[in-house]
Amino acid sequence: MRKIKKVIFPTHSDERGNLVVVEGGKDIPFPIARLFYIYGGGAEVRGCHANRESEFVLVNVHGSCKLRVHDGKQEHEFMLNTPSEGIYLPKMIWKEMYDFSDDAVLLCIASTPYLSEEYIRDKEAFLKEMRNYE
Ligand code: TYD
Repeated sequence: MRKIKKVIFPTHSDERGNLVVVEGGKDIPFPIARLFYIYGGGAEVRGCHANRESEFVLVNVHGSCKLRVHDGKQEHEFMLNTPSEGIYLPKMIWKEMYDFSDDAVLLCIASTPYLSEEYIRDKEAFLKEMRNYE
């Protein structure tokens, strides 16, 4: 199984500000099939699912939020508040996003088109399946 990891994007900064570059297959470890972004929430917890097929890189491009993930063995938590950094999530990772600041914009970069059938939405079922997964 591929590992959850932080990815750092090249940033070009000068007196005009910062420009962050994200190239599919280079700065993130898959060709990009889809982007979506989440904003305008608050205290809600989002995600609460795992994906059988999709890999993701999550980047909080404005404000902040937290990410809690479970790989079947361990839980990890990340604070996302840096536009030039993302968290790579391989397939079969349980994910929850929460504590969104009012101004948070969470960019999600995915390796596949949207397919609702590839989602696992029951955490107990996910953990049970992961006991035999490699
Ligand atoms: P949902 O999976 O509940 O979002 P989150 O992971 O943040 O909890 O998706 C919300 C709605 O958006 C749901 O009706 C499915 C739809 N959707 C798409 O149509 N395409 C997509 O790429 C995504 C991620 C969601």
